[in-house]
Amino acid sequence: MHQLSALNRYFYKYRFRLSLGILFVSLSNIFGVFPPQVIRYGVDLIKDSVELYRLFEGHLSAELLFTLISNYLLFFGLLVLLLALVKGLFMYYTRQTIIFMSRLIEYDMKNELFAQYQRLSQSFFRKNSTGNLMSRISEDVGKVRMYVGPAVMYGLNMLVTSIMVIGAMVQVNAKLTLYVLVPLPALAVGIYYLNNLILKRSGAIQQKLGELTTFSQESYSGIRVIKSLGLTAHFEKRMSVELDDYRQQALQLVKADALFFPLTLLLIGASTIITVYIGGLQMISGEISAGNIAEFVIYVNLLTWPVTSIGWIASMVQQAAASQERINNFMKLEPEINKEVGEKNLLKGQIELKNVSFKYPESGVQALKNIHISIQPGQTLGIVGRTASGKTTLAQLLLRHFDPDEGEILIDGLPLKNWHAGHLREQIGFVPQEAFLFSDSIANNIGFSKDSVSRKEVQEVAQLAAVDEAIQALPLQYDTIVGERGVTLSGGQKQRVAIARALLGKKPVYIFDDCLSALDTATEHQILENLRRYTEERTTIIISHRISSVMDADHILVLDAGLIVEQGKHEDLVKTQGFYSRLWSMQQPDLPKD
Ligand SMILES: Nc1ncnc2c1ncn2[C@@H]1O[C@H](COP(=O)(O)OP(=O)(O)OP(=O)(O)O)[C@@H](O)[C@H]1O
Ligand SMILES: [Mg+2]
Repeated sequence: MHQLSALNRYFYKYRFRLSLGILFVSLSNIFGVFPPQVIRYGVDLIKDSVELYRLFEGHLSAELLFTLISNYLLFFGLLVLLLALVKGLFMYYTRQTIIFMSRLIEYDMKNELFAQYQRLSQSFFRKNSTGNLMSRISEDVGKVRMYVGPAVMYGLNMLVTSIMVIGAMVQVNAKLTLYVLVPLPALAVGIYYLNNLILKRSGAIQQKLGELTTFSQESYSGIRVIKSLGLTAHFEKRMSVELDDYRQQALQLVKADALFFPLTLLLIGASTIITVYIGGLQMISGEISAGNIAEFVIYVNLLTWPVTSIGWIASMVQQAAASQERINNFMKLEPEINKEVGEKNLLKGQIELKNVSFKYPESGVQALKNIHISIQPGQTLGIVGRTASGKTTLAQLLLRHFDPDEGEILIDGLPLKNWHAGHLREQIGFVPQEAFLFSDSIANNIGFSKDSVSRKEVQEVAQLAAVDEAIQALPLQYDTIVGERGVTLSGGQKQRVAIARALLGKKPVYIFDDCLSALDTATEHQILENLRRYTEERTTIIISHRISSVMDADHILVLDAGLIVEQGKHEDLVKTQGFYSRLWSMQQPDLPKD
């Protein structure tokens, strides 16, 4: 339970709302305990008046008496109605304050969780599935909200109601109160156990739902692959098996849920019978009036919900504690690479790698071994190599998504670790291997990294990336929505939009990770020509499978299995009979003929 103490700071933050809520709960309860007393007066009045009426029967004053009693009863009726209305009004305000507060807390928590997601480094996201990440922000926060909202509200309500109602009952008759209350603890305990059963079953359902979410999310994002490979039947079958499982578990939960109301009614019924029986005996012996019995029956009804809610609240608090524990552990995570500390320097573009090695801890793959590189500002470095030779890993290290296990990376002579990683990344134009477009307009997809960006700037970089023409042909040009919910661009168009995005706002360093692979050689040639002019005085790293992309670089590295196996200028490399020259002769017919 101590996990939930992390939430106290929110209660403190919203203390005024909470205090108001407590006030409203108390007020609504005060107006809740009056009606039974009014009803007692009413019932006693009827009993006494009927006797009186009998005495005067046949006389003229009987008529008068009748009107008087009717008026009194009407008054009592209206009073009960009025009290109920006032109680309702305060209940409305209770919800307005406490449930409102819980929504504000939920909003704060979601923002904090999201900020933490942004803070964590790549390794965290490699270890956690999307479904898992989503469930923390939606389900866990939802459960905690049940604690800070409904559980607090009903908890307060339970306390205030019990104290007031039991107080009122004892005032009438302590012995009867005792008898009437006997079945109620059994109700609280029964509901608690029932709730734990419900809890266990709904936990299993949540788990299943998480799996289902991940599975369906994967199917939606991979829908093109599934359809084109004709895998729909297979996926349907898998889905129906999962759904069947889910249904079985949901039915188990329904069975437990179904016991809830019968159990409550049974025990409340028992209390009512005791009230009538023991109360009846006491009435005969003259200890209490008939009105008191009516009053007690209403008290028992008033207690029903508070007593039931004890078990219910207990299980909500348990669930919230489990969720809050997950949230607490998550919030405690420190990013392996803190991108918010370090020196904020203006990047010049000198890059040096000294004996750098890196192994992916998750897979144990030694992606890079003893890498030495030195690039001066304004130079262009080409990197070629087979697939899985470590090219992307090298780019990731330069962006400081991971730190090397051995060796050192120096940027402008300063160890990379001393740089403010966030600030550094802003100064590097990086085009990843897989172009990702957000569900937004093309203009925003290109321009989102800069605060205010004109259409002209966007168009300029789109022209450099040789994609302006293609965009102009779209229905809404730069305002066309792309990404998951919009127009689908071709692989090559996406790559070029991603290039345009990276080019926006001249950066001192550019890294292009195999981002020309989906382009025909003529377009590739055109873009390279544009880039050469645009990035003339900037440090540029071009990663590619194609020699044509890197042949004009000042220096070329050939990677194989994480090692630099050849390096030099194009002219020299073609002369040495190695991987590079073999690749060159294979790719030569592809060269543009201009
Ligand atoms: N996130 C990761 N976790 C574990 N291993 C990884 C990860 N990313 C890459 N690897 C491994 O590291 C090695 C180098 O991968 P890398 O992506 O750097 O190759 P690459 O040269 O960019 O290949 P490609 O030309 O296909 O893009 C591969 O063996 C790959 O399996
Ligand atoms: Mg790669």
